[in-house]
Amino acid sequence: MISENTPTLPAGIAAAEPRPGRQAAPVWVFVLLLVLLFLAMFYFDQHSGWFDQRLYTPYYSAVQLETYQLPALGNAAVARGKVVYESVCALCHNPDGAGKPNQAPPLAGSEWVAGSPARLIRIPLYGLGGPITVKGQVMTFPSSMPAMGAALPDDDLAAVLTYMRQAWGNKAGPITAEQIKAVKAEVGNRTQPESPEELNALP
Ligand code: HEC
Repeated sequence: MISENTPTLPAGIAAAEPRPGRQAAPVWVFVLLLVLLFLAMFYFDQHSGWFDQRLYTPYYSAVQLETYQLPALGNAAVARGKVVYESVCALCHNPDGAGKPNQAPPLAGSEWVAGSPARLIRIPLYGLGGPITVKGQVMTFPSSMPAMGAALPDDDLAAVLTYMRQAWGNKAGPITAEQIKAVKAEVGNRTQPESPEELNALP
């Protein structure tokens, strides 16, 4: 109600008061949003590693992780080891060496893998059974490990063990075909799987 006593505002100020109505959002806002969305997708593609569990900063792809973590992959024997690992061992121990619950213990970070070559070589050659301590944890599995490496040529077994000792953050020296021949010569014919106690008694 405007009575005669209501002071009226000067014309300029009254015009600046907000009034109901619509105004189209400027086109550049949509263009900017699209550009930001595109940049975000690009950044995600480059840096997310697509949620691969194996990856961590600063790596953003499995290929990159492998190239940096496993320089020896340039080495033909280690590359061969990876192929053998993936076809013979990965079924139980997982391609990333993490093991599988109720199937096989982890090889990544395992003291059996990085430790004494004499013990490590005997595991795939003769198999392994019985509760085993890996990474400080006692583990039992419903079935023992079969002699998965017995049928492999010495070269291939050496390659797979060397690969395991250098993959997934493990850092141990190579295993040679000569070392495998020496173990075979020393043990002779054995059909019983090894036990962790027997292995621990070895140097
Ligand atoms: C059929 C499943 C299976 C396959 C295939 C298999 N393993 Fe195993 N592996 C096991 C089990 C189970 C154990 C634990 C045995 C125990 O309980 O003492 C084990 C234990 C080990 C260990 C010692 C424990 C550790 O975690 O470091 C090594 C080393 C190992 N395996 C290497 C290999 C290699 C090398 C191959 C391929 C040539 C291979 N395994 C294939 C089931 C498997």
